[in-house]
Amino acid sequence: MGSILVTGGAGFIGSHTVRRLLDEGRRVVVLDNYDPFYDVAIKQRNVAELESRSGFELVEGDIRDRATVDALFARCAVEGVIHLAARAGVRPSIEEPELYTSVNLAGTTTLLEACRRHEVDRFVFGSSSSVYGNNEKVPFSEDDAVDHPVSPYAATKKAGEVLCHAHHHLFGIKVACLRFFTVFGPGQRPDLAIHKFTRMMAEGQEIDQYGDGSSARDYTFVDDIVDGIVRAYDRAEHYHIWNLGNSGSVRLSEMIAKIAAGLGVEPRIRYLPMQPGDVDRTCADISRARRELDWQPRTDFDRGLELFLAWYRDRTDTGSREVRTGGNAS
Ligand SMILES: NC(=O)c1ccc[n+]([C@@H]2O[C@H](COP(=O)([O-])OP(=O)(O)OC[C@H]3O[C@@H](n4cnc5c(N)ncnc54)[C@H](O)[C@@H]3O)[C@@H](O)[C@H]2O)c1
Repeated sequence: MGSILVTGGAGFIGSHTVRRLLDEGRRVVVLDNYDPFYDVAIKQRNVAELESRSGFELVEGDIRDRATVDALFARCAVEGVIHLAARAGVRPSIEEPELYTSVNLAGTTTLLEACRRHEVDRFVFGSSSSVYGNNEKVPFSEDDAVDHPVSPYAATKKAGEVLCHAHHHLFGIKVACLRFFTVFGPGQRPDLAIHKFTRMMAEGQEIDQYGDGSSARDYTFVDDIVDGIVRAYDRAEHYHIWNLGNSGSVRLSEMIAKIAAGLGVEPRIRYLPMQPGDVDRTCADISRARRELDWQPRTDFDRGLELFLAWYRDRTDTGSREVRTGGNAS
């Protein structure tokens, strides 16, 4: 049996994906460089929870490093790739667009080229709802135009999908581009709003609310995302784009109120203007994934938040306090 290469497998979505693949008895090799975008101790802990499992291997390295990638493909009998490694985060991409382009585009190209050279024909690309920019038509559907991204991060995700298409067209690689809508749940990245607000409110700090609270996100529970990733990996036959979202929107003000209620605190809010790069609203049309992947999100926002808060309490009770970083998007 070959191995599935999960890039970014030490990260939030990656580590959940790896756990699920190992549970199913599949072999997994993770390629991750422990990028310092947020505290690497979190990623090390994610990996430590996987390391003892049979069928798991970690290669510490950079997806842009062709020699490392080639050696991995040659040695590990890679049967397919789930590509989740990226520089994530909308706002930080405005500060460092070259870095985002390098990791998200050069890195993706290096992996696609390794697939070509090593005759690996299955590739899942972790794309993002951010490709829809400020499209006014909701819910967002895969057939909508995505030509107007509003951040460098979003632009790299759209460009990544296009790069994948070229390799599908030229070399027959089966590709699934999955547009994740804001992913949350246990282990969520510490820079993302739910985790950041939870931490700050639990510590009695004032939180920054950008805009009047009416901006809204389609929050998707991480287990549902993982389920979609595995289905897409198994079922990709040609070039596909699938939205993976919960298909509902939660307003920022509502999200803050629900976290505060869950923590039993009164939020202290500093009101600031909307930030450049942020979109007003995301909401997924998931009819295609339902139809073609037989996929259905199973965890609604309230239940997902409950599970996240239980995980957060457990982590902080055991003393392993998460870190503080900037940014606020997927
Ligand atoms: N979390 C979300 O809400 C969300 C939404 C849409 C899309 N996505 C996409 O899903 C994927 C996973 O996101 P996440 O939230 O788990 O992020 P994450 O930052 O937790 O995981 C990304 C992983 O990639 C690794 N990495 C970064 N640069 C690398 C490089 N050059 N070489 C090797 N490894 C590298 C990091 O160390 C990290 O472990 C990303 O592609 C992200 O853009 C996430």
